[in-house]
Amino acid sequence: MSTSLLPPPQLSVVTDNRNESPHDDTDVIAEIKRLKKERGATILAHYYQEGEIQELADVTGDSLKLARAATQVDSPVIAFCGVHFMAETAKMLNPSKKVLLPDLQAGCSLSDSCPADKLWRYQEMLRENGRKFQTVTYINSSAAVKALSDWIVTSGNAEQIVRKVPEEYEILFVPDQHLGRYLSEVTGRKMILWPGSCMVHEIFSVQDLIAMKKKFPQGKAIAHPECPQNILEHSDFIGGTEAMIRYVGGYAEPTDFIVATEANMLWQLASKHPRHRYHPVPGITCACNKCPHMARNTLEKLRDCLRDLTPEITWQPEFDKAKEVLERSLLRD
Ligand code: 13P
Ligand code: SF4
Repeated sequence: MSTSLLPPPQLSVVTDNRNESPHDDTDVIAEIKRLKKERGATILAHYYQEGEIQELADVTGDSLKLARAATQVDSPVIAFCGVHFMAETAKMLNPSKKVLLPDLQAGCSLSDSCPADKLWRYQEMLRENGRKFQTVTYINSSAAVKALSDWIVTSGNAEQIVRKVPEEYEILFVPDQHLGRYLSEVTGRKMILWPGSCMVHEIFSVQDLIAMKKKFPQGKAIAHPECPQNILEHSDFIGGTEAMIRYVGGYAEPTDFIVATEANMLWQLASKHPRHRYHPVPGITCACNKCPHMARNTLEKLRDCLRDLTPEITWQPEFDKAKEVLERSLLRD
């Protein structure tokens, strides 16, 4: 279907909508606060969760910050508001804690694109062909895939880790082809790219991005490296979520930022740097760009998991090897 046949999406200016709520959540919020205390729980929330969930969290962050924060938790329970691979990571990095995920079905299209058995067969094929390679894996992957990897990267440390891989090895980068292509460009390292992608970052409309840049000629376009090349090449800044917050914070004067990433990030940007104006780049087929997997976690499910202490991430055999790779990649310089 040609995108030009679609009506142009509404461009919305997001400023500060922290107090807007479609319904009154006062009771459920009070219950969450009470249960959190009773259970001795620490709430970790990714920046792609709804603002109302981020507001309740002890720590908000991107994948790297949350993984590191999980190692510092000393309460008995972690309620992880994010997706499955993030909660698994928290469990692997702090195994004695009970790690809860409000909705166990909160998955990730990137993670799903790289099943462990398929990766193993591909690695075997490379080995049989005499290829000498290391597997560098984006954290958006299952523990079983992490266990087959040499390195785990996040959008926050990927460049640093890729530069560490000895030159004599080829790099098999899984599962995000767009992040891999971008890293290959900035580091000059050749990579074999797994053909996975994030369903949210892949659908931005480049025509709309160009139109928004014309509308805000003094504005700055910022994009997550999970976006395809056509979006990145029209962006003034490319970086993971923490890097975006730092970049925006560097502008002292109120500025228009055109943002190509998951839409809930705008809540965090507006919360940390309210002097600016943020404009989400719409998708080709929808104007919201919210991750449907992250959206499975709701206030009600957070309350229920704290009350029932389930669903829980339990230790799996592949966690032992995956934990080693995670620790080496994320916790040591
Ligand atoms: P970061 O948390 O590393 O920015 O990654 C974004 C993302 O898509 C998380 O699922
Ligand atoms: Fe996965 Fe994309 Fe959702 Fe992140 S935003 S959890 S990469 S589908």
